[in-house]
Amino acid sequence: MVFSETLEAWYNENGRILPWRETQNPYNVWVSEIILQQTRVEQGRAYYERFLNNFPDVAHLAAAPLDHVMRVWEGLGYYSRARNMHCAAQQIVERGGFPTTFEDLRKLKGVGEYTAAALASFCFGEAKAVVDGNVYRVLARYYGIDTPIDTTVGKREFAELAQTVMDKRNPALYNQAIMDFGAMQCTPKGCNCSACPFVDSCRAYAEKRVEDLPQKSKRTTVSVRHLIYIILENTEGKILIHRRTDKDIWQGLYEPLLFEPESSSEEFQIIPNLLHWLTDYGCKMSARSLRIDRHLEGLRHQLTHRTLVAQAYRIRILNANDLPPMEDYQWVKPEDMEQYGFPKLVNNIFSLMNIR
Ligand code: ADE
Repeated sequence: MVFSETLEAWYNENGRILPWRETQNPYNVWVSEIILQQTRVEQGRAYYERFLNNFPDVAHLAAAPLDHVMRVWEGLGYYSRARNMHCAAQQIVERGGFPTTFEDLRKLKGVGEYTAAALASFCFGEAKAVVDGNVYRVLARYYGIDTPIDTTVGKREFAELAQTVMDKRNPALYNQAIMDFGAMQCTPKGCNCSACPFVDSCRAYAEKRVEDLPQKSKRTTVSVRHLIYIILENTEGKILIHRRTDKDIWQGLYEPLLFEPESSSEEFQIIPNLLHWLTDYGCKMSARSLRIDRHLEGLRHQLTHRTLVAQAYRIRILNANDLPPMEDYQWVKPEDMEQYGFPKLVNNIFSLMNIR
C-alpha cells in the first residue's frame, strides 16, 4: 500500500469525530481552524461552540463590535487571531461571499498557507496539502529527512514533499488523516511505534531516529518580561482600566494600570512611581492618600517565546473624590468588568484578589 492509503486506512479506524468535521460550511471550518492553530482540540471544542453561538455566520461576525469578539475569545490567548478574523469577516462580506480557492482564501487577513490549504481541501475539495507541526513530524520520520524544518530550505522541501505524496483524489480525507496521525499516533514523545501501521516502512524507525526527528536549527530562547499591575480603586470602589493599543501581546484587550520595569521588579518603587504617573495625568495627591490593600507576587504566565513574571498591587485611593478624567483610562465598577475582555493572567489576578 502506498503511504496515503495506509494513512487513510488508519484514519478510517482511529480518526476522531469532531464537530468541524461534520460540516463543509467554510465559515464553521474557518472558525475551527483558527481556534485550533494554538489551542488543543479539547479546549478548542468548547470555544468553537461558544464562538458559533455568538456569531452564527460571517455576517454576524462582521457586524459585531470588536469588543464583543475579544470577550468571546477571552482565555484562548494569541488575540491577534480574533482581531484578524473580525477584519477578514468584513473582507468576506465586502467581496460578496466566502472565497472558494486556495489563492483567494490566502488573501484573507490571518489566513496563511496552512489555513488556506485546510479550507480549500476540506470545503472545496482542492488538492492542496496542509503542512503543520504534525505533518512535519510524520513526513520527517517516515521519509527519514533531517533538513531542519525552521529554515527556508526545509520549509520548501517539506511543502513539496507534502504536495507530492498527498492523495489528490481525496484531499479532505488525506489532510485530516495526516494531521490526526501526527496528533494521535506519531506524537512528539513516546510514540507507540510497535502499534504503528508504518512499523515496517518508516525510515526513522528502521534507523532508530524517531525521537530525533524532525530537526530544528535553532533553540528557541524564552525571554522574561516583568509586569507590575496596579489595581487602583477610587473612593466609589471603581477600578481603573484601559485598553491595550500597542502592537504587542494582548492588543485590544483591557487591563489595569501596568508598569513594566526593564529588568527585575525588585528595585521598582511602587508608590513614588504611581504618584508620578498620577501627576502626569493631572491628579495631584500624596502618599498618604494611597493605601496598599493587597500584594501578590511571583505570578508566572507562559507564552510561547516569553515568560511573564507578574506582581499585582491592589491600591485604594482614600480621599480624592474629584479625580480629573484620565485620557484612555476609565473607572469601572467590579460588577461591570465582565463586559470587558481581559487576558487570562489579569483574570487570574482579579480572582485571587476577589474582584469580579
Ligand atoms: N488541528 C488543526 N486542524 C485540525 C482539524 N481539522 N482536526 C483536528 N485537529 C486539528
